[in-house]
Amino acid sequence: MDPSQSYGFETLAIHAGQSADPANGAVMTPIYATSTYKQDGVGGLRSGYEYSRTANPTRRALEDCLAALEGGARGVAFASGMAAEDAFLRVICSPGDHVVIPNDAYGGTYRLFNSVLKPWGLHHTPASVHDTAAIAAAVQPGRTKAIWIETPSNPLLGIADITTIAQVAHDSGALLVVDNTFATPYLQQPIALGADVVVHSTTKYAGGHSDVVGGALVTMDDRLGADLATFQNSTGATAGPFDAFLVLRGLKTLAVRMERHCDNAERVVAFLAAHAAVAEVFYPGLPQHPAHSLAAAQMKRFGAMVSFRVEGGHEAALDVCNRAQLFTLAESLGGVESLIELPATMTHASVAGSELAVPDDLVRLSVGIESADDLIRDLQQALEAR
Ligand SMILES: Cc1ncc(COP(=O)(O)O)c(C=O)c1O
Repeated sequence: MDPSQSYGFETLAIHAGQSADPANGAVMTPIYATSTYKQDGVGGLRSGYEYSRTANPTRRALEDCLAALEGGARGVAFASGMAAEDAFLRVICSPGDHVVIPNDAYGGTYRLFNSVLKPWGLHHTPASVHDTAAIAAAVQPGRTKAIWIETPSNPLLGIADITTIAQVAHDSGALLVVDNTFATPYLQQPIALGADVVVHSTTKYAGGHSDVVGGALVTMDDRLGADLATFQNSTGATAGPFDAFLVLRGLKTLAVRMERHCDNAERVVAFLAAHAAVAEVFYPGLPQHPAHSLAAAQMKRFGAMVSFRVEGGHEAALDVCNRAQLFTLAESLGGVESLIELPATMTHASVAGSELAVPDDLVRLSVGIESADDLIRDLQQALEAR
């Protein structure tokens, strides 16, 4: 790519961080399955690479591509989304510090805060993702090192105001970190809106095919990126070269996949919203969503994660999950195939009884890119067979 040019998202997704292999012209970045690199004399690194925990060319290509897609200075690719989250928090926080967290978030993120980092000495206060004033009130000046938001949030599809919350964070000397897993950089660019760091479970839409577990951080600031990479090299939760290859391949089709995911989700939402067995639908694209206009302003489209409550409560929701056939009953999200799950007992079991507990009649869908007609027919039989 010509560094003096600016390129569109779709072009960056296919080319950023990647060029034909200098050794043989391979067009696709190879899986550099090597732990170490030959040195031309002691201290004479041939290509800048020395050991694959420190850096690996396949992982580097992914990191550079992600940084370009998020509009950040530096990307760091991890073994999982959780490893990325943990690394970020341990780099910017010390025992005794404080973080504001969302009251709706992936259960594993809450478990990290509550079961791992709280005993380590990191305090947290949950605040409503929709309520910027509540987030501001939860900040403890001098002690709060970060405001953490997920937007859209998991599983209730809340929308946080990235620009305003970035201002709140910066006014008190804290960083704003945005989990952009649900939206992807195709639909939302938190760094352009003021965020300092973006976190991803690349397991999800970035990989896109449910065949890899990975995570990433993208920083606005090169210095913080270097600190994160140093921490990663010191602790070791790196993305392996095969995993990095799979995510890099997934990114190439992210834009076209997301368009189709969004098309299908809009059809599914229209069906659910009109169905008598559905009590409530959570989707930021619905005009009655409390932050619909904010979502429309900060996102390109509304994504393909949809949650709904079923008339009849927990048992009825369980029945819907168990009856679905084309929607596979499984945790995770963001793959080409549609998934259905019951957050209260599956992805969010770890928040049961906490301030982040989710309704037990809530069903979460990850709407895939199959035929929308087939998906709707499947949901219809799952809702009506009762
Ligand atoms: C929004 C969100 N963030 C982070 C994670 C954690 O990522 P991983 O499972 O890759 O560790 C998940 C996992 O489901 C998630 O949904």
